[in-house]
Amino acid sequence: MTYSIVYSSRTGNTEQLACAIRSALPAEGCLYFGGPNAAAKAADRLYIGFWTDKGSCDEELAAFLATVENKEVFLFGTAVCGSRPA
Ligand SMILES: Cc1cc2nc3c(=O)[nH]c(=O)nc-3n(C[C@H](O)[C@H](O)[C@H](O)COP(=O)(O)O)c2cc1C
Repeated sequence: MTYSIVYSSRTGNTEQLACAIRSALPAEGCLYFGGPNAAAKAADRLYIGFWTDKGSCDEELAAFLATVENKEVFLFGTAVCGSRPA
């Protein structure tokens, strides 16, 4: 089983979660760690992290998610309070 960890993070919160996931998993299975990139999709499982913007997944990560097909996906995210207006 190979995996990639893909995340977007403006201020570092989501990156901290991504790093914690990386620390908890066997290093030998990791194909990619970083921001949205087609190279990440070579793995069997994608750990995908986003920060919440306007009550939803941030746009950069949403665009990447829309290109993901036929993968196991573990979704994680950070937020402050739920829905903040634009
Ligand atoms: C422009 C902007 C919009 C945000 N909108 C929301 C929101 O709608 N709901 C929410 O719960 N948090 C919102 N937040 C808070 C972030 O999602 C939260 O701080 C997150 O942990 C940031 O992740 P990061 O440190 O990985 O960038 C917003 C933050 C910013 C800067």
